[in-house]
Amino acid sequence: MRKFAIITGGSRGIGRAICEKLAHDTDYHLLITYQSNKDAALETLNHVQKLGKAAEILQFDVSDHEQTTKVLSQWQESNKDAVVEVIINNAGINSDGLFMWMPYNEWSRVIDTTLNGFYNVTNFFIQKMLRHRYGRIVNIASVSGVKGTAGQTNYSAAKGALVAATKALSQEVAKRHITVNAIAPGFIRTDMTSSLNEEDLVKLIPVGRFGEAEEVADLVSFLVSKKAAYITGEVININGGIYS
Ligand code: NAI
Repeated sequence: MRKFAIITGGSRGIGRAICEKLAHDTDYHLLITYQSNKDAALETLNHVQKLGKAAEILQFDVSDHEQTTKVLSQWQESNKDAVVEVIINNAGINSDGLFMWMPYNEWSRVIDTTLNGFYNVTNFFIQKMLRHRYGRIVNIASVSGVKGTAGQTNYSAAKGALVAATKALSQEVAKRHITVNAIAPGFIRTDMTSSLNEEDLVKLIPVGRFGEAEEVADLVSFLVSKKAAYITGEVININGGIYS
């Protein structure tokens, strides 16, 4: 039996840092998913393989139920000995703007990616994980999903729903030694935050800087480890002291 960890949106940013950290800290085979940028996914794969770990890349849009199910079914069919023990729901997008001017498409795109993405990937594996009687699920939420952020009603709603889903699912699966937790990062330096005015925003952060993707990945690695067996249904903030 080969044990796998799947990381959605593993091609860049926080997802890539998580792949590299898990390659460093664990013996899981990594299933690195990406939506469109194959070169970036191959780069992550290359970093992981350089650390001596087995990994593969898989392309699908997490918001598309049919496509996700099809690609994961084909993968499972050709990897019958594979057990997915770890799911990191990291794929997410933002599309910011005031709610009064928010077109329906920008509302639903953001919710479909974060919330339906969580459903599409997690639901596919959950029965097998329950039969396996062990697992770790980590959902990458956001400070916006905990406190709500003006200009991000869609993103806050999606991440807030992910937090609630984390708490509900954790109670359903706890007896089978499966933990489900959410991480709520504040400002982390990635493509997603590259257009923000960092100089102004750091004034709001007690620690006085943006966080690094590797710092989020360290927390993921801990939650995935055996040491975190008694932590479940939690939302862990990693935000340099911006309390909600
Ligand atoms: P990013 O934009 O660099 O990476 C997002 C990843 O998700 C990319 O690999 C992208 O291809 C993937 N993705 C997006 N839509 C997808 C879809 N439909 N199907 C499959 N993959 C898809 O952003 P970053 O910062 O690395 O974000 C990672 C996660 O962390 C996201 O869920 C984001 O909401 C969350 N987050 C980020 C914060 C930040 O300050 N950077 C703060 C709080 C949360």
